[in-house]
Amino acid sequence: MALLFYSPDDDPERWRKALARHLADLDFRVWPGGLGEAAGIEFALVWRPPPGMLDGLPNLKAVFSLGAGVEHIADPPPGVPVVRLVDPVLTRGMTEYVSARVLHYFREFPLYADSQRRGEWRKRPFRQAAECRVGVMGQGVLGGDAAAALAAMGFSVAGWSRTQKRLDGIEGFHGESGLIPFLGRTDILVCLLPLTPETEDIVNARTLEALPRGAYLINAARGGHVDEEALLAALESGRLAGATLDVFKTEPLPADHPFWRASSLTITPHIASLTVPASAAAEITANIARIRDGREPLHAVDPARGY
Ligand code: NAP
Ligand code: GLV
Repeated sequence: MALLFYSPDDDPERWRKALARHLADLDFRVWPGGLGEAAGIEFALVWRPPPGMLDGLPNLKAVFSLGAGVEHIADPPPGVPVVRLVDPVLTRGMTEYVSARVLHYFREFPLYADSQRRGEWRKRPFRQAAECRVGVMGQGVLGGDAAAALAAMGFSVAGWSRTQKRLDGIEGFHGESGLIPFLGRTDILVCLLPLTPETEDIVNARTLEALPRGAYLINAARGGHVDEEALLAALESGRLAGATLDVFKTEPLPADHPFWRASSLTITPHIASLTVPASAAAEITANIARIRDGREPLHAVDPARGY
């Protein structure tokens, strides 16, 4: 069974070994040098495939994303399912990242860091998690898990999604009409949406204005979700007290980008969660087995929705 692999960020050999543990008949080909006979290729496993890379593969049965996001697969061949990665290790990593940043803001570590810089011993009033309203945009695999973990810690959690959800312990908002009321009750906003034409620049001057003054933002989804100028203006004006960004419109973030100099901004280099081959290979190969059995893959992207 031939699988075509491409990623500018991953070591193909690690992936070959991880997949081979589950696929005895694996014929692992690395694009472009190892393409071989195109007609033999049944599956592709990719991250940011170059334009046209997936053309001319007449027997391709599915394109697997090396991550949860799929917007990086810009031109999938028509009629071939694109499958996003759903993996417990990836999910746990994201929930850890989001929880760490929410706790950081809720327990006012930025303010204690300011006090420390001034040599000031100052206790702030103690607050309970229930008094802190966290809002998670995206209630899918990652947003749903993060919201549930935060609710279990006692935070007052709301979720915003495209369709209506009724999740235990989470106040549900959905659709365009639910967005502004959702933002209005949110002290710490977490973005875990997929990047689609509908969600591009969703964190913008209008939506930031709908947050309570002094709110925080955590964007661990895609840089394309944030209007960068609006974010800088909101930090400057105090509308936002701080923000954590893991993802950027241009990655790596250019050395001269003003984000590097914004003191209330925390930047991480797209590490909120990472795909671990040993774990992800089990999920991907189980899905390959389904397809070879004539069944639909799990977690296929709906081309109309774009996620
Ligand atoms: P998912 O399971 O597909 O969930 C997507 C959620 O977003 C769903 O709740 C969906 O609503 C909601 N949504 C989509 N379009 C919407 C819209 N127009 N308005 C309101 N809600 C909308 O995706 P996931 O697996 O949780 O992954 C989310 C994203 O995280 C990925 O696409 C990727 O970009 C990002 N990510 C980042 C990292 C990192 O390291 N920084 C790692 C992994 C993933 P419905 O439930 O109604 O469909
Ligand atoms: C990482 O960004 C992913 O989409 O999994």
